Amino acid sequence: MLSLILPTYNESENLPELLPRIREILSNTPHEIIIVDDDSPDETWRVGQELAQDMEDVHVIRRIDRRGLSSAVIDGFLAAKGDVFAVMDADGQHDTALLHQLYANVSGGDSEIAIGSRYTTGGSVGSWDERRYLLSRIATWLAIKICAVNASDPMSGFFAIKRKTFEEVLPRLNPKGFKILLDLLVHVPKSTTVSEVPFTFGIRMHGESKLSRRVQIEFLEYLYDVTIGRYLPLTFIKFCIVGTLGVFVHLAAYMVISQLLADGEQLNLYGFSLAVVGATETAVIFNYLLNNVWTFAHVRLRGAAAIIGFFKFNLACAFGALANYAVAAFLFSLGWVEIAAVFLGAMTSVIWNYAMNKLLTWKE
Ligand code: GDD
Ligand code: MN
Repeated sequence: MLSLILPTYNESENLPELLPRIREILSNTPHEIIIVDDDSPDETWRVGQELAQDMEDVHVIRRIDRRGLSSAVIDGFLAAKGDVFAVMDADGQHDTALLHQLYANVSGGDSEIAIGSRYTTGGSVGSWDERRYLLSRIATWLAIKICAVNASDPMSGFFAIKRKTFEEVLPRLNPKGFKILLDLLVHVPKSTTVSEVPFTFGIRMHGESKLSRRVQIEFLEYLYDVTIGRYLPLTFIKFCIVGTLGVFVHLAAYMVISQLLADGEQLNLYGFSLAVVGATETAVIFNYLLNNVWTFAHVRLRGAAAIIGFFKFNLACAFGALANYAVAAFLFSLGWVEIAAVFLGAMTSVIWNYAMNKLLTWKE
């Protein structure tokens, strides 16, 4: 049995045209159609529910408070009854006539995944503008490099997969963004059999594409995460960038505070110490705020939690400063060159601060 997933977001005008077409094509194939809608403002879910009243093979899942093509498809698969799952755009861009071929390839047993491909011989992207074509080619070229298996169009949104294969990789999937097929191809065993069916990407019937700038950035982050990110997490890189900017904030704050305290005269040791402490805390506040809205945006702290988080951050960083001093002093006592001892001390506190704050302040 085939379970066809139709992820939808604002596709209310397309469903009434598309559903009859798909049901006609699948009339002799045991199947179910599962629409997964993310509470679309245009009420696609309602249109789907109304159509489903007279179509016993059609089901609607309306998700509240969740967004994302990949996670919608995964939820659809999780609710599916078939032994073969398929996905297609709900806007008419994927050729319904190819559903048979995709299903046959997977249910017949010779492939575990069958992909509707725009980039294999006989396939095409149809009438895309140059910018989208180029972006897609670059993304595809990068994506191919990280797949465990060979495929010419790992970013396709039109494919079929065996239930068993999906269930095997399920625990490793990363449900962000648009790249559900890519994510599957990255995590399947190398022995997985893949076939490709060429098709020409059609024109959207109504409405507009949801492939936003944000989705494209998520894709780049994903590429990083599954390659270098396995060894060097993106949040660590961002944390270091924030820390580096923090050094400049520290210097600037020192200049301002020391000027104010000196009031035209020479600073004494007390004034100097006060300016250093003030500058340090200014830098800590800066680091905390920027890490909260950028580095750890996905677990951003708000309200009272943000205030508690700020105290944790201060505490973790205070111990980081102690670790910094301990390492530097120890290496110095061993006879290391001063600058190397200072540098390693500073690096120790960066890694300490990152690890501790990830553990205590911004829990993922
Ligand atoms: N539930 C849900 N939630 N569905 C979504 C979401 C979402 O956040 N975002 C998009 N969809 C649905 C759309 O309603 C559509 O049915 C399908 O997912 C694909 O989205 P489109 O907006 O039509 O994407 P596209 O046509 O620009 O992009 C196509 O090419 C990409 C690669 O170049 C699609 O085939 C993508 O799947 C493919 O990755
Ligand atoms: Mn589309």
